[in-house]
Amino acid sequence: MHFDDAHWARYHKAKKLAWDPQAIDLDQDHRDWAALNEEERDATIRACALFLGGEEAVASDLAPLLVALRRREGQDAACAFLASQIWEETKHAEFFRRWLAEIAGDVDLDAYTGPSHTELFDRVLPDRLDTVLTDASDEALVRAVTTYHLFVEGTLAETGYHGFYEIFERRGILPGLVEGIRLVQRDEARHVAFGIDMLREAFEQDGDLRDVLEVEAEMLFPLVVGVLGDYFAPYGGEQDPFGLTATELLMFASAQFGKRQAALERTAA
Ligand SMILES: [Fe+2]
Ligand SMILES: [Fe+2]
Repeated sequence: MHFDDAHWARYHKAKKLAWDPQAIDLDQDHRDWAALNEEERDATIRACALFLGGEEAVASDLAPLLVALRRREGQDAACAFLASQIWEETKHAEFFRRWLAEIAGDVDLDAYTGPSHTELFDRVLPDRLDTVLTDASDEALVRAVTTYHLFVEGTLAETGYHGFYEIFERRGILPGLVEGIRLVQRDEARHVAFGIDMLREAFEQDGDLRDVLEVEAEMLFPLVVGVLGDYFAPYGGEQDPFGLTATELLMFASAQFGKRQAALERTAA
């Protein structure tokens, strides 16, 4: 029952820490936006567009996991938590949509995503999540949680937040965007911790499932690197208009994935 307790605790925390994307003050963001040059604006829109696409995908792809767990015994706590997570992902998408609409104006968001982003969010993620509706195996569950919680949230999104802080928080600009990112990240910490617990529980019951994660990780890590590449590609691949380098973000992503692996290892004993 120790996993149940943790799921309920996160569910209660989600209620206490609820926030409203509409309530964030964007007045200073308007003024800061006016002072950015064209290339800086392009990179800011691109980063937000990649995030918005990701948040919309995770918001719409998570329900199958809740349904799959509902069909299993004793997953009330996990299902309650997932209900809170689906609501939060919907709000995250709302935040990025609002920020882009009010600050950047009318932009064609499809023009800002890239091939790896499309592969991950339009093909791999929905495939892994939809599969648990028709495949009740533990292997399918581990693949879904590995893709969603460990890689998309625990590795890719975390790397994205780091990039936002490096660019905007360091410069002291776009405080509304930075505040929203911080609130999104606070929610995501619960989501990732839930995913790690789901995997721990699966591995406690069947250690061979670790191999399923390993195989999945070999496919997913290059894809995460590819999504980061989608962001840098229009600026020559190495450095964005703010001076942030692809190498730095790549190193952060590797370290982040290493932390997630270490968290899983700690429970294996
Ligand atoms: Fe999210
Ligand atoms: Fe999330």
